[in-house]
Amino acid sequence: MYLVTGATGNVGGSLARQLHEKGHDVRALVRDPSRAASLPAGVELSTGDLDDPASVAKAVQEVEAIFLMHSGHGTDQTRTMAAAAREAGVARIVLLSSAGARLLPLNGPVPTALAAREQILRESGLHVTYLRPSAFASNALWWRDDIKAGKVTDPYGQGALAVIDPDDIARVAATVLTEDGHAGKGYILTGPAALTTREQVQTIAEVTGRSIDFEDVTPHEFALASIARGTAPEQALQMERLHEVLRARTQVTVTDDVENITGTAPGTFRGWCERNADAFR
Ligand SMILES: NC(=O)c1ccc[n+]([C@@H]2O[C@H](COP(=O)([O-])OP(=O)(O)OC[C@H]3O[C@@H](n4cnc5c(N)ncnc54)[C@H](OP(=O)(O)O)[C@@H]3O)[C@@H](O)[C@H]2O)c1
Repeated sequence: MYLVTGATGNVGGSLARQLHEKGHDVRALVRDPSRAASLPAGVELSTGDLDDPASVAKAVQEVEAIFLMHSGHGTDQTRTMAAAAREAGVARIVLLSSAGARLLPLNGPVPTALAAREQILRESGLHVTYLRPSAFASNALWWRDDIKAGKVTDPYGQGALAVIDPDDIARVAATVLTEDGHAGKGYILTGPAALTTREQVQTIAEVTGRSIDFEDVTPHEFALASIARGTAPEQALQMERLHEVLRARTQVTVTDDVENITGTAPGTFRGWCERNADAFR
């Protein structure tokens, strides 16, 4: 039995389906079973919440390995899961971390929390594998309303991201959960190419046949516009700092970890767009 958290989300949903298709028993920790309707019928649902230790302790009973998608701020959910796994004698955890846990300057709350979660698991005595993906292709859904309105405004400039299809992260997770040899390893997972936001939006325009304007603004201009729309100034400032770091990152490493682990190269952003084009129409 494999426990999957975040199973109503991008990566966890794909992972639960992939494990089930391969014939594994899967239990999904879900807050609301009615939102898990798209999971295969054979996936067992354990109603719970990563913020509720008793429900986590129940979900980990008699599982072989755990896929942990920390969904809140800070580190509490990771501590809760590590304690529950130790108590139940589950040795293997695969953490959905982020490239940001290693590759961003650790001076903001987000990368600090990402690194702290990894450290908690490193010190837990469990057999942990750290999946560190770059930005998800599915983040393009954040522009859905802007795309429908005909214009994306963006602060990344020439900064590029080696965006990865969540299905590829799930393929890696399915492999490292079910195979030996990945304990104590960390993988930087990227898509096959580094793309600017402008290039991503251009791809969406080509795939959907929509005309989409693109406006490049500075991180400061973007932050001011966010504050005007109601974002708290402190949060907007944190995002501004992150955008400045990413805007300056015009050379991005593309790794071969997805192919090395799964035997198949990661899919392209265009491929993800083709599968999800209806979301932008
Ligand atoms: N987006 C990126 O570019 C990126 C890059 C690197 C790493 N990551 C990491 O990837 C993760 C997000 O993955 P994703 O896109 O697959 O997620 P997602 O689609 O946003 O789904 C979030 C999932 O978390 C569940 N969830 C939320 N709060 C919960 C709680 N308190 N207890 C139990 N489950 C809870 C949600 O379930 P409900 O149905 O109950 O809401 C849902 O299944 C984050 O950990 C993030 O740090 C993201």
